[in-house]
Amino acid sequence: MSAPSTAIESNLVENRVFPPSEALVKAARISGMAGYEALRAEADRDFEGFWARLARENLQWTKPFTRTLDESNAPFYQWFADGELNASANCLDRHMGTAVENKTAIIFEADDGAVTKVTYKELLARVSQFANALKAHGVEKGDRVLIYMPMGVEGVVAMQACARIGATHSVVFGGFSAKALNERIIDAGAVAVITANYQVRGGKELPLKAIVDEGLAMGGCECVRSIFVYQRTATACAMVPGRDKTWDEALAGQSTECPPTPVGAEHPLFILYTSGSTGKPKGVQHSTGGYLLWAKLTMDWSFDLKPEDVFWCTADIGWVTGHSYVTYGPLAAGATEIIFEGIPTYPNAGRFWQMIERHKCTVFYTAPTAIRSLIKAADSDAAVHPKNWDLSSLRILGSVGEPINPEAWMWYYRHVGGERCPVIDTWWQTETGGHIMNPLPGATPLVPGSCTLPLPGIYTAIVDETGQEMPNGSGGMLVIKRPWPSMIRTIWNDPERFKKSYFPDELKGYYLAGDGAVRSVDRGYFRVTGRIDDVLNVSGHRMGTMEIESALVAKSDLVAEAAVVGRPDDLTGEAICAFVVLKRPRPVGDEAKQIAKELRDWVAKEIGPIAKPKDIRFGDNLPKTRSGKIMRRLLRSLAKGESITQDTSTLENPAILDQLAQNN
Ligand code: WT7
Repeated sequence: MSAPSTAIESNLVENRVFPPSEALVKAARISGMAGYEALRAEADRDFEGFWARLARENLQWTKPFTRTLDESNAPFYQWFADGELNASANCLDRHMGTAVENKTAIIFEADDGAVTKVTYKELLARVSQFANALKAHGVEKGDRVLIYMPMGVEGVVAMQACARIGATHSVVFGGFSAKALNERIIDAGAVAVITANYQVRGGKELPLKAIVDEGLAMGGCECVRSIFVYQRTATACAMVPGRDKTWDEALAGQSTECPPTPVGAEHPLFILYTSGSTGKPKGVQHSTGGYLLWAKLTMDWSFDLKPEDVFWCTADIGWVTGHSYVTYGPLAAGATEIIFEGIPTYPNAGRFWQMIERHKCTVFYTAPTAIRSLIKAADSDAAVHPKNWDLSSLRILGSVGEPINPEAWMWYYRHVGGERCPVIDTWWQTETGGHIMNPLPGATPLVPGSCTLPLPGIYTAIVDETGQEMPNGSGGMLVIKRPWPSMIRTIWNDPERFKKSYFPDELKGYYLAGDGAVRSVDRGYFRVTGRIDDVLNVSGHRMGTMEIESALVAKSDLVAEAAVVGRPDDLTGEAICAFVVLKRPRPVGDEAKQIAKELRDWVAKEIGPIAKPKDIRFGDNLPKTRSGKIMRRLLRSLAKGESITQDTSTLENPAILDQLAQNN
């Protein structure tokens, strides 16, 4: 981990403050800072009692828990461990016989604008029927099922059906490659894959099933017995008799009733792979009870959800945001939610605004990257500016995935929210399961670019390398001092890596987030500045630099050595910049361009298009210390286009810097 304080401009002052309106405070579940402080005080006073109360009030347990937190095997914490419940029952069955039963659960808008609505009752029937299909194909409690699906009702049905029978799902984002799929299938030991023939995005059909086939053909996937293929489009795809079934074939003859299988609270609800600073992606394992509690409760707290809300989280189910705020949270909370198949810029960059108007969306939750690209589009074409649509239904805006720069925050607040809707900047991670720090709509005064304060019951702090807390105004490493119910339980197949990555010995048992942060001097508000490890955040997508380096050097006929760093990018937050040494003389001009393209395509095949380096620079070698260590600090400066002011006296080959300063 690099020294964090250097990465943070702790002197940055943001003076604008937006207190919540009277109306918001009055109507809010957590009303005013006094309401927030009262909940915090409750957790301070009786930490376990606080969580036990919330778990009893917010979830339906088939067997009540008697013990709240078990710390005996820390950091492998257990929550509500002797309790039993089912996640799908807590999202669907619990609403039957209530006013929610016939409420719209999902408003699905397809890429081409076609709309389908599904009520809670219908969703329960569809989930149950698919759950029966899984069972009929031998999928059992504790089995792992890999899901590689487009955004749509069926993706949610697939996840909920797994949860219903106690199978652990692992969703892989549709933008990952066959190789990435292959690795995840093997690591998870998946017995089944649920996919679609194609996905439709931006007017284009993109294959999914063919990529699954390619992934399986790479070998080592003997664990997979069945493949379920949802026919999203009329286009045919290859099917292996015996192994592959269409969605309709699988459902045929299955009952629409399936009793939910109770599981222990610690039963793994899902594994979600995410990038770390070293090695292969890690399978973040989440629990059933603690995870679901927080997915549900943060819907209520962070978005102050009301029964009449129309909630829209634009995240894909392939990311944790799509798990917590598409598949589980909104349904557990009984909300009506929008699910969108397409992309924000098709058929034009007014699509989001048009959809908000069309469906009378009230709570809109998206990523800074999307906002920045829509600002750019609106600046160059007034016809796609949000002012062209009636956005008066909106009452709350959310942001997630990366730091939101104050300019984007202000535009979002002004032009989308009409200066009426609080911007809820939510800081969290795949590992935290749900929100950790964000303002509350009816309580917290907003400061652009700041995720403000931790939610009640969550204890975040900023520390130095020894775990010592930093004074406000000084940057450091973001940690969470006490366990929380929705925390990562372990890394699938690698408990040692779990301990090493998140609970390093020097940090007093605190959870290490991997982000740098600073608290404001006046309010103690947190501002998260970005990763302090070798993880990049490109358009809100998390990528390990080592992963991309490994992918590059895997092209062994061409690449001798590669180093990957991030550089700031106005649109994507960070951009991937690769420094490459070839096994042939350093290319220039057209040859360099052509090889750079070849390498980009190669990385897309190895990991996925999201991992393609934006810049590729070729050198005769890389800047190294005399002991052979690549000086990434210098590469980061070169990537940014800065002239080198750092001390280069320890460098073996200082002349290389001039060469690498040139872009192709
Ligand atoms: C990393 C986690 C949060 C779920 C989606 C991404 C960055 C996330 C914020 C925010 C500043 C943020 C952090 C974090 N990040 N939200 N509001 N402000 N940074 O989950 O893929 O696990 O990535 O995203 O760097 O560590 P993820």
